[in-house]
Amino acid sequence: MVQVLEFADVDVVRGRKEILKSLSWDVAEGERWVVLGPNGAGKTTLLQLAATRMHPTRGTVSVFEEQLGKVDVFELRPLIGLSSAALTTHIREDERVLNVVLTAAYGMTGRWREEYEKLDERRAFRLLHEWGMSTMMNRTFGSLSEGERKRVQIARALMTDPELLLLDEPGAGLDLAGREDLVKRLTQLAKDPASPTLVLVTHHLEEIPPGFTHALMIREGEVVAAGPLGEVMNEENLSKTFDTKLRLMQTEGRFMAVAAE
Ligand SMILES: Nc1ncnc2c1ncn2[C@@H]1O[C@H](COP(=O)(O)OP(=O)(O)OP(=O)(O)O)[C@@H](O)[C@H]1O
Ligand SMILES: [Mg+2]
Repeated sequence: MVQVLEFADVDVVRGRKEILKSLSWDVAEGERWVVLGPNGAGKTTLLQLAATRMHPTRGTVSVFEEQLGKVDVFELRPLIGLSSAALTTHIREDERVLNVVLTAAYGMTGRWREEYEKLDERRAFRLLHEWGMSTMMNRTFGSLSEGERKRVQIARALMTDPELLLLDEPGAGLDLAGREDLVKRLTQLAKDPASPTLVLVTHHLEEIPPGFTHALMIREGEVVAAGPLGEVMNEENLSKTFDTKLRLMQTEGRFMAVAAE
């Protein structure tokens, strides 16, 4: 079994701020992780490390058993799909939706580019279709609603057929129906054994798709709990993570939490 992520005693320090503190975390192939934690806990920073976009200040991060700092990250990046409002900054508003997905393949095909063009286009179209966006493929990215943008971004993250998919708050800004649609699609993704290893960052327990297997809870850059969902998803860990006494409810494979009396 391939170790997809291995964080060992990771510190990330910026100025005086210790963003991650002695954080250790292992993700094995095929696992589906949700990462929970309050604003500023370090979740996006964690994903930046996993996406090889950042190096730790101390400790080691290995991605697909290659240690950051000792490997050419450009070899690893095609294996990693990333969808993040915070990190996906370079999509132009006037870009055609099909191109938003298609361009994720650039750099992959190198000098065989022309041969692969048709194949790439077909794959981009298929992904847009799977995410319910094929009818809008000729629209500009800027003309899409928040929910539509989210689905295009996930299709884009899947374009290189990654072995690890990182999603940073894909449900942010969605209305109730949009969120439920996203959860349904992510549930299908989670249940498909052919899907990549998944890491989903969210603030809302309702957004955890059934079929997710593990949870990592962090607070102020430190691990509060990590492990199989059934073991770590409890009121004590959640209350500690969010520093609020919480009551956890579970129905039809979904979770929600409210403040305890
Ligand atoms: N370059 C930097 N210099 C100083 N502090 C930083 C830097 N980058 C991030 N931080 C701080 O590190 C903390 C963690 O940031 P991060 O974006 O990882 O949190 P997060 O868990 O994703 O939060 P949110 O839920 O709000 O998205 C925040 O307090 C942030 O202000
Ligand atoms: Mg964040």
